[in-house]
Amino acid sequence: MDQTFTTIIEPFRIHSVEPLRMTTAEERSFAIEQAGFNLFNLHAEDVLIDLLTDSGTGAMSRDQWAAIQHGDESYAGSPSWFRFEAAVKELFPFRHVIPTHQGRAAERILFSVVGGPGKLVPNNTHFDTTRANVEFSGAEARDLVIPEGHDAATIHPFKGNMDLGALETLLQERAATIPVVFLTITNNSGGGQPVSLANIRGVSEICRSYGVPFFLDACRFAENAWFIHEREEGQSQRDISDIVREIASLADGMTMSAKKDPFGNIGGWLALNDDDLAEKCRNMLILTEGFPTYGGLTGRDLEALAQGLKEAVQPDYLRYRIRSTAYLGDALDAAGVPVVKPIGGHAVYVDAKALLSHIPPLQYPGQALAVALYKSGGIRSCEIGTVMFGRQPDGTEAPAAMELVRLAIPRRTYTQSHIDYVIEVVTSVAKDAASLPGYRMVREPQALRHFTAQFEPIA
Ligand code: F0G
Repeated sequence: MDQTFTTIIEPFRIHSVEPLRMTTAEERSFAIEQAGFNLFNLHAEDVLIDLLTDSGTGAMSRDQWAAIQHGDESYAGSPSWFRFEAAVKELFPFRHVIPTHQGRAAERILFSVVGGPGKLVPNNTHFDTTRANVEFSGAEARDLVIPEGHDAATIHPFKGNMDLGALETLLQERAATIPVVFLTITNNSGGGQPVSLANIRGVSEICRSYGVPFFLDACRFAENAWFIHEREEGQSQRDISDIVREIASLADGMTMSAKKDPFGNIGGWLALNDDDLAEKCRNMLILTEGFPTYGGLTGRDLEALAQGLKEAVQPDYLRYRIRSTAYLGDALDAAGVPVVKPIGGHAVYVDAKALLSHIPPLQYPGQALAVALYKSGGIRSCEIGTVMFGRQPDGTEAPAAMELVRLAIPRRTYTQSHIDYVIEVVTSVAKDAASLPGYRMVREPQALRHFTAQFEPIA
């Protein structure tokens, strides 16, 4: 790459396009009311720029579409499976790779085997489905991110790091009840912040000294490896795939949603070294996902992922990816909109607690902001705050650690002018933030309430 010029461009050109549908403010006002003020209930065609998630929403490449033509749909032992397995092991050389239809299926299988009442699972910060699957098994999910990770404004290069002291203390007291220690890279619920290689080594060492398995929740492993490459001493000369392999070598297994960094529209896996555990997990897999050489995926999905994994670790792509997320975050920051800093890998997180300080946590400031962004500019975002995490296992409701609104950037999907539009809308909503109402929840499901809860504004 020519280092003379500083403009970061998309390292691809557009090959096929999808139309976006324009709506009026009146139409959006009607649509969000019909949706019970829950963005998950909107019809996607009523959304202009969809930043709800970066999961399964990326654009596949020409080479992925070509690979799909090689999909072999044999029930067992398909060549597509062997290509997929080899691509996974190239980066994550675990002994067993167990394919699943997405990340939470891997989580459900693992925690149904190793979880259960009386057990405790530490993580830097559990993602919502991970926490839900730990808790559904009867175990406790404990978040041990470093203190800087709880404060939206504190600058730290690796704000997703695990608090190693807290982990060691917990293992001293409870190692016998801890079936696995997890580390989420990057730390999605804590602002998409990376974990340093030094921290991963530290977690690995502590876990090994207590004989407790160490697993990665590695959905955004390539973005995390890029941050290590850019920010950690001694790492800038290494290949991204080399950094990824070292990360894998420090762990005993992983769960994966291939809908993120590997550019899948669907897919995931569970990988691990322990033969006994792998056997138990495969038995669970056969019950609900499918035979161990497809696990809920078609041959063509496996092909698309095998190719996507190769593209995920390309430096030109990762440089563009991380810089284009920062482009949005830096612009909002410069306009005075409070955002989690430094800017994470896959998303910009607006600090709704700071921006809507007039709305108490139990009136969901993040939800209030997300609704306003939709009504104002047709942008769909996602609350990561008390709506998502407020309901406690004992049935009470408590404020979450942070009230964030996540603007997640689908991979290779939107151009800079789309993002310029987002900057304009968010900045304009932020100017009128003091006029936004809080919300009350009028319908609440039992688990993962943020997906289907309904709200109404408080007059
Ligand atoms: N772990 C992390 C860190 C995640 O971000 C996700 C999904 C999962 C596990 C579960 O994977 O969706 O394939 O079952 N995150 C998406 C998001 C949904 O919007 O952040 P899945």
